[in-house]
Amino acid sequence: MSLITRTLRLPRTVHSPAWRSSISATKVFPLSPRLSTGVCAPMEGFPAPRLLSTLIAHTQRPTWRTGLLPGRLVAAVPGLNSSAAFTTQATAPSTAESTGSHQSHSQSQGPSSEPPSRKAVGYWLLASAASVFGIVVWGGVTRLTESGLSIVEWNLIRGMKPPRTEAEWQEEFEKYKQFPEYKKLNQDMTLEEFKFIFFMEWGHRIWGRLIGATFLLPAAFFHYKGWLTSPVKKRVWFIAGLICFQGVLGWYMVKSGLDHALMDTPGAVPRVSPYRLAAHLGSAFLIYTGMVYTGLGVFRENNLARPGRLTQFGNLVNSPVLNRLRHSAHGLTMLVFFTAISGAFVAGLDAGLLYDTFPLMGDRLIPPKDELWDPRFSGKDMTSPQGSSSQVVTSNSGMWKNIFENPTTVQFNHRMLGVTTFTATTLIYLYARRLPLPRSVRITLNTLMSLAVLQVTLGISTLLCSVPTELAASHQAGSLSLLTATLTLMHLLKRVPK
Ligand code: HEM
Repeated sequence: MSLITRTLRLPRTVHSPAWRSSISATKVFPLSPRLSTGVCAPMEGFPAPRLLSTLIAHTQRPTWRTGLLPGRLVAAVPGLNSSAAFTTQATAPSTAESTGSHQSHSQSQGPSSEPPSRKAVGYWLLASAASVFGIVVWGGVTRLTESGLSIVEWNLIRGMKPPRTEAEWQEEFEKYKQFPEYKKLNQDMTLEEFKFIFFMEWGHRIWGRLIGATFLLPAAFFHYKGWLTSPVKKRVWFIAGLICFQGVLGWYMVKSGLDHALMDTPGAVPRVSPYRLAAHLGSAFLIYTGMVYTGLGVFRENNLARPGRLTQFGNLVNSPVLNRLRHSAHGLTMLVFFTAISGAFVAGLDAGLLYDTFPLMGDRLIPPKDELWDPRFSGKDMTSPQGSSSQVVTSNSGMWKNIFENPTTVQFNHRMLGVTTFTATTLIYLYARRLPLPRSVRITLNTLMSLAVLQVTLGISTLLCSVPTELAASHQAGSLSLLTATLTLMHLLKRVPK
């Protein structure tokens, strides 16, 4: 992080207008086997519990407005008119299903003769993803309570033991007192207050170690037992590598906030580099994505291993009519990902404390150009935005830094990306309503749309209320939920191999 960015960092507690001005220089698939038979089949591609399926079944409307279904869609989807075929295929028990044979899998999968990964692997991956979800939210709360810089050392083994005696606590507190955060912001902090921020950060680190252990050990076990297919094996070890990298990245991020040079920079507030924060969050999102997508893939492999099980689903999903929706789901996932990363820059710069109005920023929809594209953020030889340096502007190169270091621009970009994500979700949702879709895809689309509404509402509320911890943490959780929905959609729309 450049010196200028640090100079810009402001205490979260400052809200005055003066401070701001100084900165501102269903439709349901009609032929569902469950509807025609009353039997509760699992959702395609999912290990849906029976009870959940039953509940979902009761919310379904048995017909769609055929008037909205273009004739070419019916023609393009083989078997769409054959409700009898659907019913029989979906409910007829297969020999392979009852014997557990993998032979059928090789038939349905074409050239691959590998048996699918065990279902246990799928459950383990999804449980690991849930744990990553939890640690991301905990990490957000750690940042929001300004606890992240409380532990000034990193040791994989020794770091697991928190101080126990009063003397040990005092020793830990003394270490913290040597660093800029205490010296600049927390001189009046008591030992009790220190214990709170210590436990927040310690909990985050312990949870990280737990994720590492509960991923690496079972991964080795499943590998040894031969329970992973080759592609799943590659992904699992790639995720394992990412988890180790995440630990190192976490410490690299914390180190940026412990830099003693912050003491020599007038007006600088000790915080971690927003670049490193965004990298840490981005890497967590990647790990989560890998776990969810691979986990869902394992259940799909198993479902494909049962002949006839996915025939009607495959007929619908493989239809070229869904190509546009398939591509849109990929695009939307990328958009959610980038919006989330841009959110990390908002969080890293405390840019959510600036312009706490929506949709206007100040009295305009778009802030003035010279504020968004401020030359003072562009390089070392600029006059500091706080006016602490008397140097004159000599170069316009490096103006791109405004995108990552200028709080006004960072907030503006995040708003734009957030609104674009919301608009894209709405358009995809409206478009998909006209398509012949399996029930599980429809449910996912409804969930996706609801989550997008919730996420934007949380984002706006976080802004209007000047970033309270509860709302900001919920907003962070919302971004992972939204990502889960787009990943599920992508997964469900994957072509079924013939
Ligand atoms: C639907 C798309 C959106 C996604 C995926 C998203 C995601 C995120 C993420 C991941 C963060 C980082 C949280 C952290 O690290 O603690 C964040 C922060 C933030 N977002 Fe969004 N966001 C979206 C829309 C919006 C909208 C529309 C607004 C308001 C206009 C908004 C306002 C904020 C604010 C103020 C923060 C900073 C919170 C803090 O300091 O902790 N977001 N967003």
